[in-house]
Amino acid sequence: MNLSERISGISESATIKLIDIANRLKSEGKDVINFSFGEPDFDTPPHIVDAAKKAMEDGFTHYLPSGGLPELREAVAEKLRRENGIEASADNVVITPGAKYAIYASVISLVDDGDEVILFDPAWITYEACVRLAGGRVRWASLDHIPDALTPKTRLIIINSPNNPAGYVLGEDKLKEIRDLAIDHDLMVLSDEIYEKIIYDRRHISIGSFDGMEDRTVTINGFSKTYAMTGWRVGYLAAPEPVAQAVKRLQQHSTTCATSFAQYGALEALKGDQACVDDMVREFRMRRDLIVSGLQEIGIGCEMPEGAFYAFVDVSAFGGGDRVAEILLRKAHVIVTPGGSFGPESGAFIRISYATSSDRIRAGLEGIRMCLG
Ligand SMILES: Cc1ncc(COP(=O)(O)O)c(C=O)c1O
Repeated sequence: MNLSERISGISESATIKLIDIANRLKSEGKDVINFSFGEPDFDTPPHIVDAAKKAMEDGFTHYLPSGGLPELREAVAEKLRRENGIEASADNVVITPGAKYAIYASVISLVDDGDEVILFDPAWITYEACVRLAGGRVRWASLDHIPDALTPKTRLIIINSPNNPAGYVLGEDKLKEIRDLAIDHDLMVLSDEIYEKIIYDRRHISIGSFDGMEDRTVTINGFSKTYAMTGWRVGYLAAPEPVAQAVKRLQQHSTTCATSFAQYGALEALKGDQACVDDMVREFRMRRDLIVSGLQEIGIGCEMPEGAFYAFVDVSAFGGGDRVAEILLRKAHVIVTPGGSFGPESGAFIRISYATSSDRIRAGLEGIRMCLG
């Protein structure tokens, strides 16, 4: 079978592959400790579920405009103005089936064959795939030497703060450096802010709020992580109108729209009580402290994650990410993601997701102690 070159260059997502392995081991009766999950282990808060149920019962089960439910687009624009300082109106907002599709559609809308896109190593796996599907080329860069990666072909810089997998949060100075480069070199910036609320002791800053970035920023966000709504598939982008219109056209011919009643749930998520978010972040903070101190006790140092729910751990002393991931899986049935999946310079690391209960974290730490302690 002759598949297209575009799709042949795309490998299976490493995290999805690991979930398959976890499921196989489980079906063999093994007690698998899964530290590879990229989703909150909480259920969607009941008031959000009720809003979607009511929408279904009320007959909101039909197509919606491709840009999304007008009330939801308005609510997102209002949230971006109030919380993020981004001067968006509903015309700048497109609701998509998950933030992932917002990223894909934005990259397809901005990147032509041969254009270069700057990614910071380590970066979430999907960005590279999206750039390749658009026919673009990834230039890997370090946050410490960004100008080294610029060429006349550079079109877009993708940033992600709080960061998956490294857990860092970009501060104002670094964001201003990126803003200045974007303006000086006439570049667009795609800012993936999906973990904005899962943040500890730091303040989230949106690059789209800076002067000069109104026409250069695509801000990505969604409901999956903040409201434990991964399966609902609702995300959004806010972009200059030509980009928003382009994404809408792409949606018209690909997905039509994000699921109608899920968008009513998302509307309730934004407008309803936010205590559920605080509760979840409190729990994540406790687990973060548990995992970092547990690793320290085993003699494995790791940077304190400032946001998201991942610890990115240097295991070069134990043979590197691939080897350690394999040993942990084989000997302790602990699944972690090898760092090499996140960029060419990250092979020394493993990513440990702490989106699982404290008991499972303790059991996983015991497995790690057995293999590496
Ligand atoms: C950095 C980052 N962006 C976007 C997404 C996708 O979110 P969604 O479920 O809204 O597609 C993820 C999910 O793992 C992520 O880690």
